[in-house]
Amino acid sequence: MGQPTNLFLTLLFLLLSPCWGQSSHPSCDRCDQQLSCNCSYGEFTSVPTVTERALTLDLSFNNITMVAADDLTGHAQLRVLNLHGNRLAVIHTSAFDPLWSLEELDLSDNQLTDLHHEWFSKLGALQQLNLLNNPYSCLGSSPVFQKLIRLRRLWFGGPALEELKRGDLSGVTQLEELTVRANNLKRYEAGALADIWPLGRVTLSLHSPFLKNISLASAVLGDLTYPETPIILEDLHLIGNQSVQAFRETARRRIRHLTLRNLTVSDEAIVDLLMVLDGVPLTVLSVDNATLTGEGRWERASWSDHRSTDEFFVRNLVVLDIFKFTSFLQLQFLLRYPRRVSVIHSQAFVMPCATSHLLVNLQYLDMSDNLLTDMTLVETLCDGKGTLKELRVLNISGNALQSLSTVSRLVAKLSKLTHLDISRNGYSSMPQGCTWPATLRYLNISRAKLTTISPCLPTTLEVLDLSNNDLKGFLLDLPALRELHLSGNKFLRIPPGSLFTNLQTLNIQSNTLKMFDRSDLQSYRRLQSLQMGQNKFVCSCDFVNFFQSVIKGGGDMHLTDGEENYVCDSPLYLQGELVGQVSLPISECHMVLFVSVTCVMAVFVATLVVSLLWRVHAFWYIKMTWAWLKAKRSSQRRRHRDAGDSEALLSFDAFVSYSERDTSWVENFLVPELEEPRENDGGSGTNRSPRPLSLCLHKRDFLPGHWIVDNIMNAMERSRRTVFILSENFVQSDWCRYELDFSHFWLFDGNAGREAAILILLEPLSKDNIPKRFCKLRKLMSSTTYLEWPQEEEKIGEFWRSLRNALSGEEDDD
Ligand SMILES: *[C@@H]1O[C@H](CO)[C@@H](O)[C@H](O)[C@H]1NC(C)=O
Ligand SMILES: *[C@@H]1O[C@H](CO)[C@@H](O)[C@H](O)[C@H]1NC(C)=O
Ligand SMILES: *[C@@H]1O[C@H](CO)[C@@H](O)[C@H](O)[C@H]1NC(C)=O
Ligand SMILES: *[C@@H]1O[C@H](CO)[C@@H](O)[C@H](O)[C@H]1NC(C)=O
Ligand SMILES: *[C@@H]1O[C@H](CO)[C@@H](O)[C@H](O)[C@H]1NC(C)=O
Ligand SMILES: *[C@@H]1O[C@H](CO)[C@@H](O)[C@H](O)[C@H]1NC(C)=O
Ligand SMILES: *[C@@H]1O[C@H](CO)[C@@H](O)[C@H](O)[C@H]1NC(C)=O
Ligand SMILES: *[C@@H]1O[C@H](CO)[C@@H](O)[C@H](O)[C@H]1NC(C)=O
Repeated sequence: MGQPTNLFLTLLFLLLSPCWGQSSHPSCDRCDQQLSCNCSYGEFTSVPTVTERALTLDLSFNNITMVAADDLTGHAQLRVLNLHGNRLAVIHTSAFDPLWSLEELDLSDNQLTDLHHEWFSKLGALQQLNLLNNPYSCLGSSPVFQKLIRLRRLWFGGPALEELKRGDLSGVTQLEELTVRANNLKRYEAGALADIWPLGRVTLSLHSPFLKNISLASAVLGDLTYPETPIILEDLHLIGNQSVQAFRETARRRIRHLTLRNLTVSDEAIVDLLMVLDGVPLTVLSVDNATLTGEGRWERASWSDHRSTDEFFVRNLVVLDIFKFTSFLQLQFLLRYPRRVSVIHSQAFVMPCATSHLLVNLQYLDMSDNLLTDMTLVETLCDGKGTLKELRVLNISGNALQSLSTVSRLVAKLSKLTHLDISRNGYSSMPQGCTWPATLRYLNISRAKLTTISPCLPTTLEVLDLSNNDLKGFLLDLPALRELHLSGNKFLRIPPGSLFTNLQTLNIQSNTLKMFDRSDLQSYRRLQSLQMGQNKFVCSCDFVNFFQSVIKGGGDMHLTDGEENYVCDSPLYLQGELVGQVSLPISECHMVLFVSVTCVMAVFVATLVVSLLWRVHAFWYIKMTWAWLKAKRSSQRRRHRDAGDSEALLSFDAFVSYSERDTSWVENFLVPELEEPRENDGGSGTNRSPRPLSLCLHKRDFLPGHWIVDNIMNAMERSRRTVFILSENFVQSDWCRYELDFSHFWLFDGNAGREAAILILLEPLSKDNIPKRFCKLRKLMSSTTYLEWPQEEEKIGEFWRSLRNALSGEEDDD
């Protein structure tokens, strides 16, 4: 029984497992248009699927534990693969095989305990490989880098690296950069690193070899030292006089550039180092992030020769016992040579004048980010007496200086000074006059608290940086100026260009400029590069148009800070939009054009509408409606007036409504027949002669001078019946008047009107021949019987009888 079930389950599993496989394979679509996929910080636990066209794949800072054989299939285009900061412990030996375009591979900060040469066997294009900080203790049993013939930058090692053997780096012949982190290296086979040449730059961390096995440290250093190769040594702890002996090999190889980084060093070690380096053509000695445990007593090495030293660079120096520290007075043997000295961010509050005197060759002094004050600067520059005669560049940026007149007085006699950087200090005001060396070309007073400028600024300046102050205006002639930096101030307008006849670069970003126009810029004759982004632009028509013409490349001037920095601040509906992409409504920007076009359009449309209305007889309808309304009103008035005595009003038997062209019929037949009836009508048997009827004819009975509508209405109201004489003429020519009669008639009689109206057809007239708009007439014709004027002589009598009956019928009914 159990077996079929098991089989079934197995089948099910087999069917489903491909789906499971896929769902456990997440995908990442964070790729940009350059096909760079950044899947960093994605919490992936395995390599996600990304497009096979990807050129760069950043998988750093995930939780990926392994790279399986087919994880990277299809990625033949991939140039950069970054797996830094994962938990990679397993990489399938052929996982990287598809990546034959790969140029950069980063596997640093993972859990790789063994390196396999198979990983890299197909990576012939690889130029850069980072294997730092993995827990491998050696570089593998067979040479891992053998096939990497293009390799130029290599990082390897970590806290676990203990052993380097000959042949470990076979295949690696030429590098631009090599970093070996070997703080815990225990075994080194001499020559293991000796075959790499040329070698661009070496960074070595050799903490414990320097402390515990000097011969090992010497061997490593000796294998990597070439005169042209700068060496950076990290994490050294140079306390006793022994540790320094490792440098003997370096010194012997005539090293030129030495940098010590993350260093702890005692006076004793420094003295020994100076002695070891005696006569070595070292030109640059840098110390970065160092702790000095001693008191600066190095004069024991004063006999040593350091004449080739050109530059001392010290940054982030911590002196443990700063109060015991002596003032380099005995260091003439060191200080008389260098042309460049930097002591940056090292809590230096003064350099004694006596020391300054020793720096006879100094051309470049950088004491930025220290604790200098106006008072200690006076000491450092020996009260402006002209020590440091060769000085060309002085950088005292980022100190606690406050008086511009002091600094200007102190440097006045430095007759070769061209660059002065006094940025990031506390200058808040500018005196009216200052003295500067005539050679000064570059002055940086950015990030101070200046509110105004004054003629204190020297006219010799070519580059002036006043950015990030509180300036609002600039009115000073600086004819030599080429570069002016005014960003981060409070300028409302661009300063007039006539002040700076030579200006080529202007940076006035992040101010409060509202706009700028052609005349603003035209005053700058030589301007080539302009940066004005991040201002509070008011996007008016003129400004937007001008701006868009400028970025389209009108003239020599270029906005070099990118269009995306020019954003509208107002009007509100444009806030946040790019000035270069705003399109303002035409109504705002071309008022005259807009108004004229609108007028022309309006006239055109009006004409169109009028002719259209004409075609559909709208005027006729309007006229009708109007007349109708008017008639209704006056009729109501009349009725109101005459209420109660309606019968008395009826002075006519019938109102005759007819076409002008049918007048002859009316006058010749109708009127005589009805108003003056003959005694014997047609010889019929009637005994009494018919009563004469009174007719109302507009020609005869309308009051002259009254409005026609009123007249009609009046006539109709005073007549019992209305007789319409219908003919072709009626509908074709006089329709207007008659329809008026109809409407009125219809209006006050309502349904009764049907009986009050009598239609006489003078000639055969079909309802369908009547134009559609005479809907009342059509309706009337279909609802009321009408009398036809007979063509035969003998029926005429009958006609008159019927008519007369119809006209007098009402009396019978009543
Ligand atoms: C990917 O994004 C991270 C921050 O999320 C950034 O640090 C890293 O430089 C980016 N990588 C690439 C290749 O742009
Ligand atoms: C990786 O996994 C560990 C433990 O499972 C977790 O603490 C950590 O937050 C994860 N890191 C990332 C980037 O997801
Ligand atoms: C120092 O390193 C060398 C070279 O690897 C080795 O032969 C020697 O035994 C080491 N000495 C000590 C004391 O570890
Ligand atoms: C500096 O070197 C010490 C050993 O001297 C080491 O413990 C420390 O981690 C290093 N610091 C940095 C930032 O590398
Ligand atoms: C090293 O220092 C010890 C005492 O600290 C001293 O006896 C010895 O001579 C010094 N060696 C060298 C080479 O300076
Ligand atoms: C130097 O020290 C600073 C902090 O003082 C630190 O941020 C930096 O990483 C250190 N650099 C090196 C190379 O150790
Ligand atoms: C002065 O030092 C600061 C900070 O180290 C640096 O940013 C600036 O470029 C230096 N100025 C000059 C003129 O070298
Ligand atoms: C002026 O100094 C500031 C701050 O040190 C720096 O960022 C800026 O680049 C300097 N300006 C120029 C023109 O070198």
